[in-house]
Amino acid sequence: MAEEVQGQAAEAPATSGVSESQIAVHWREEDYIQPPASFVSQANANDPAILERFSEDKFPECFKEYADLLSWDQTWHTTLDTSNAPFYKWFVGGRLNASYNCVDRHAAANPDKTAIVFVSEIESDEHVHISYGELLRQVNEFAALLRDFCGLKTGDRVTLHMPMVPELPVVMLACARLGVIHSEVFGGFSGAAAGSRISDSGSRVLITMDGYYRAGKMGDHKVKADEALEMAAKEGQEVDKVLVWRRRPGEYQSKTPMVEGRDFFIDELLPRYAGQTVEPVSMPAEAPLFLMYTSGTTGRPKGCQHSTGGYLSYVAGTSKYYLDIHPDDMYWCMADIGWITGHSYIVYGPLALGTTTVIYEGVPNYPDGGRPWRIAEQLRVNIFHTSPTAIRMLRKVGPEEPRKYNYHFKSMTTVGEPIEPEVWRWYFTEVGKGGAAITDTWWQTENGGFLGATLPGLQPMKPGSCGPSVLGIQAVLYDEEGNEIPKGSGKAGNICIRNPWPGIFQTIWGDPERFLSTYFRKYNKNPDSKDWRDWPYFTNDGAVIAADAYIRILGRVDDVINVAGHRLGTKEIESAALTVPEVAEAAAVPVVDDVRGRVVEMYVSLKPGFEASDEVAAKVSQTIDTTIGKIARPKNVWIVADMPKTRSGKIMRRVIASVSNFTEVGDVSTLANPEIVEQVREQVQTAKRERGQEQRELTETEQHEIKSFGES
Ligand code: WT7
Repeated sequence: MAEEVQGQAAEAPATSGVSESQIAVHWREEDYIQPPASFVSQANANDPAILERFSEDKFPECFKEYADLLSWDQTWHTTLDTSNAPFYKWFVGGRLNASYNCVDRHAAANPDKTAIVFVSEIESDEHVHISYGELLRQVNEFAALLRDFCGLKTGDRVTLHMPMVPELPVVMLACARLGVIHSEVFGGFSGAAAGSRISDSGSRVLITMDGYYRAGKMGDHKVKADEALEMAAKEGQEVDKVLVWRRRPGEYQSKTPMVEGRDFFIDELLPRYAGQTVEPVSMPAEAPLFLMYTSGTTGRPKGCQHSTGGYLSYVAGTSKYYLDIHPDDMYWCMADIGWITGHSYIVYGPLALGTTTVIYEGVPNYPDGGRPWRIAEQLRVNIFHTSPTAIRMLRKVGPEEPRKYNYHFKSMTTVGEPIEPEVWRWYFTEVGKGGAAITDTWWQTENGGFLGATLPGLQPMKPGSCGPSVLGIQAVLYDEEGNEIPKGSGKAGNICIRNPWPGIFQTIWGDPERFLSTYFRKYNKNPDSKDWRDWPYFTNDGAVIAADAYIRILGRVDDVINVAGHRLGTKEIESAALTVPEVAEAAAVPVVDDVRGRVVEMYVSLKPGFEASDEVAAKVSQTIDTTIGKIARPKNVWIVADMPKTRSGKIMRRVIASVSNFTEVGDVSTLANPEIVEQVREQVQTAKRERGQEQRELTETEQHEIKSFGES
């Protein structure tokens, strides 16, 4: 699958005197593909007047259209308050409750309508249909439990470490009902990762599950709660209560003992709250709704704080126009609720619009590559949402599987990483059977919702480009010095968003300075300015913008590795490796992978007196697995005699990244120890050849990323 991602370079890019981000990127522009007429005629956005309603001169009032999709207890008096820019406030003076908007109002209008369909990974299990009326009952009872059993109140934080089960949205919405801030940690993350998020957020309650199915096996998930509490305690945070759902009520799937007085089975507690109702707390629009942790360049994950009114308006509006959700659709997003995609586009967006959202527990290829298409057929799914990694994997395991099933998608979404045109075409032709519109959505954990995508009923698709910036978003490319790079110039730059939008995160939990320095300081000209025009938001992504304003994302410009659409910070992984007693130095680099986009590869050097061995390498791998999670597990751990370093001692990650990817190492004249490069190259590439891991030739975009990795 070594497709040319961007066609042939017209000429070698000139590198002298220009920064990396300015290097011209050439690729063959793909032709437009028009959405099917059957899609356009029914689309929520098929009248070009919408583009006019969201034009630059209508900012910020244009976003009233999104906020009007919600039921407000009190209307706002100020749409956007920039007095403390870039800490913006949206819909100030407005009050609402997110659980009321996602549950109560639909339960009142349509109690028997299905809100959630749960599909167990075990194919012989029956699908569980939860109506809006039933969801309301469950959310109320769980909210009563949170309030009366845990003593939680508005503003408290609760950490969730739950898998893909319908109990997860129940917990999130119960928190929202009380104004309690939830912080869900991806179920696949380790106990230690959950623990440091517990301590960062100051949670006194952890909500988890005993186990869940993954690739046909029931794993022990409860054990991670004990590891999490140990880590949290080490960091000074005590947890009073651990609430444990049982995947099959009454049957405990874990071998890990319950701790008396601390751990409680939820199915034993809930009957006490049967039939109880909890009044939804009317929250100010700018009250935080949840935290979502994401990786950054330094070790500590960042708790992105999302608001109630702005966030919910933004996900409702973008779900309506970009996912084209109508209330009677059967919508399935195969992401995990543990990531922002799941929060915005499995739970909050679709439920705010009162549609039916599907939750699938397991991996896409269990028991075989036809599973997603069987689910689509059985449930009559008509909107499908997934990631390029899942598409690549399904294409690999069953390129002709979709044809065997009788389902019909009207639209399909992709998210998380760039999608190669060839993979895009398989998605369109085979999965969509040529009859569905594709929306490639580019955005980040920090953003709440989409930044770049085509409006599927109005703008043609272009494989490999996400499309123009979305309604109300003004994208711009800057070079390192802050000069604007005009669209259509063919030059890459740092993509920024000129204006605020309702879905943007409010701050990094407990670290406003990091919020400023990571996203705003680079392009801010006046730190005292209260004018949003002076505060472009820096996404930390590199991109090219074509003459038609379509954006092609080139990847991160910071030290973040995107594995299967999930960001992992190099520092996070390296800190984990450094806890292995033998390890003196560690460096994590990306390796191009045809299924997962990028995977992690580790380089370590040992302290004096220790010998390189397979045991030490395995220990490094294992430690990364238990500290972060399987997703970060390195493809290889190379124990090297020394790392290539600058004279100031900085490890040159771009050099080892090039070695791992079999691409030219580039200029090594600034190294303090240039002789080590050849030695490392010999060692690593010989071993990789023996393991059958020779790299295909990288595309120009990939080379660009690898050769500048860690240089920001
Ligand atoms: C990074 C954000 C928010 C969705 C899940 C990932 C990359 C995301 C695309 C896309 C090319 C994409 C960017 C971005 N990315 N979507 N459609 N095309 N690249 O959230 O973990 O915060 O990662 O994922 O590099 O900065 P995240």
